[in-house]
Amino acid sequence: MSKNLNYFQNIIDQAFKAESNVKNEFIFYLKEKLQFKDDDIYVNKEKIFTDSEASLVNDFIQKKKAGIPLDYIINSSKFYEEEFYVDQRVLIPRPETELLVDFVNSYDFPKKIKILDAGTGSGCIGISIALKNPNFDIYGSDYSLDALNVASLNKNAFKIKNFSLICSDWLSCFEEDSFDVIISNPPYITKDDKHLDNLIYEPYEALVASDGGLADIKTITEQSSKILKKGGMLIYEHGYDQSDQVDSIFNDFGFIDSKSVKDYQGIKRISYSFLTY
Ligand SMILES: C[S@@+](CC[C@H](N)C(=O)[O-])C[C@H]1O[C@@H](n2cnc3c(N)ncnc32)[C@H](O)[C@@H]1O
Repeated sequence: MSKNLNYFQNIIDQAFKAESNVKNEFIFYLKEKLQFKDDDIYVNKEKIFTDSEASLVNDFIQKKKAGIPLDYIINSSKFYEEEFYVDQRVLIPRPETELLVDFVNSYDFPKKIKILDAGTGSGCIGISIALKNPNFDIYGSDYSLDALNVASLNKNAFKIKNFSLICSDWLSCFEEDSFDVIISNPPYITKDDKHLDNLIYEPYEALVASDGGLADIKTITEQSSKILKKGGMLIYEHGYDQSDQVDSIFNDFGFIDSKSVKDYQGIKRISYSFLTY
């Protein structure tokens, strides 16, 4: 049988009956990876695939059968207007994290500030802020060298000069009074969260925290009370039901004037607070 688009679309229809999004992902894959144009997809459906095109499509089908997310298959993730390189060494950036970046980019900070993106992963938060704020001095830290290698690929791809990478177990390698702002999207899922069943390809240590998902938030908050300058701001993305607990952690470690930001569904997903003078 001729290996044209109809042939592969039939295979995908059969294999992913219950997952209609795979059909859309296939179209996206054809455009991104095989550089197919709209005409190749919607008009020339009888065009025979070359051996290398057919082999790439078979690879896509096998990976989707194994449940691998599209972003890892194409090694690219769209985040805050840009494409970031991703692979299984880092978390795939999430839409809710764009809210965190948007909050920082629209906040009325002084012109020149020093920011830490703690647990930078792919670098998506720090780089997105650096691109919009060339006067800010931004650092991205992670304890995973694998993650830092991915962040470094992205830093180089965007050719940004105001973003530096540092290996650190949370804030342990920074001096006191180092930053005006610390931002983090830390691991905050509990180890028995049912969502983890669908996240088997993402780094476990990027997702899961002990102590009801709050252990890393507690550690970062305690360390931030020394590493932040007085009056400095600490900002988290956290779980949909964690804002009250994060608020009380802020209080425990000397932070005041806590506030939360709601996502587009009206859920408090970001909280921030200021270190007392
Ligand atoms: C939820 S991911 C966030 C990644 C990225 N900032 C984002 O928003 O997509 C959490 C990150 O924290 C890092 N991390 C976990 N424990 C850490 C620790 N003890 N010290 C430093 N980084 C840590 C993980 O390697 C991971 O990159």
